[in-house]
Amino acid sequence: MIPTPDTSHLTNADFEHVYEPAEDTFILLDALEADAERLRALTPRIAMEIGSGSGCVSAFLGAVLGSTTCLYLSTDINPHAALCTLKTGGQNKVPLEPVVTSLIGPFAKRLHRAVDVLIFNPPYVPTEDEEMTDAQAGRAIEGSWAGGKQGMLVTERVLCGLDEILSEKGLFYLVAVKDNDVPSIRRRMDEEYGFESDIVLQRRAGREHLFVIRFSRKASPS
Ligand SMILES: C[S@@+](CC[C@H](N)C(=O)[O-])C[C@H]1O[C@@H](n2cnc3c(N)ncnc32)[C@H](O)[C@@H]1O
Repeated sequence: MIPTPDTSHLTNADFEHVYEPAEDTFILLDALEADAERLRALTPRIAMEIGSGSGCVSAFLGAVLGSTTCLYLSTDINPHAALCTLKTGGQNKVPLEPVVTSLIGPFAKRLHRAVDVLIFNPPYVPTEDEEMTDAQAGRAIEGSWAGGKQGMLVTERVLCGLDEILSEKGLFYLVAVKDNDVPSIRRRMDEEYGFESDIVLQRRAGREHLFVIRFSRKASPS
């Protein structure tokens, strides 16, 4: 069993500004652990987490891979989150490289089809679209959950750009809830973008039904 990363250096004051690891974080850790063999077999050169928050998930991925040759990039719109991610990397001896930007930001062109492992636990809670827009603009903790219509507006932008960033052998792990309509996400990614998917884990946590979906490119017919 791979231990949950040490976040004891982060304080309640940090968690007033940054998303504190919660059930959605922990199902993602469990999914990465369940996929540990698959992830190690990839021998990833570049891993990226979008919306790294406290840095707990990226640090855990570092522990799963145990690799010092992998580049661990992460992004977050919230500058305080990027700082927490940096500290969590140091605390857990995983060399995390956080960048303050929205989604994939400047990486999209520079890392064309180069990311071997991509992870996103997005703001997935259904809200008014305006609440999502304000939260994104505010770059604060509200951006951790406000997801607009069906909770999908932020996630949708990553799904559209996945083909640009994921390597040929790459894996993309996405957290979703039932309200996001998981069957529809999977069907559209298959039919419109050519990504197959599996549900790695799903569970109830309070009022939420959480899923972790793993996407990969469909093998082209030979
Ligand atoms: C649900 S929290 C997850 C945090 C952390 N990955 C975890 O699992 O505990 C969502 C994170 O995404 C970040 N976020 C929201 N919109 C974003 C965007 N457009 N680009 C990058 N990060 C974003 C938030 O600031 C927040 O840190």
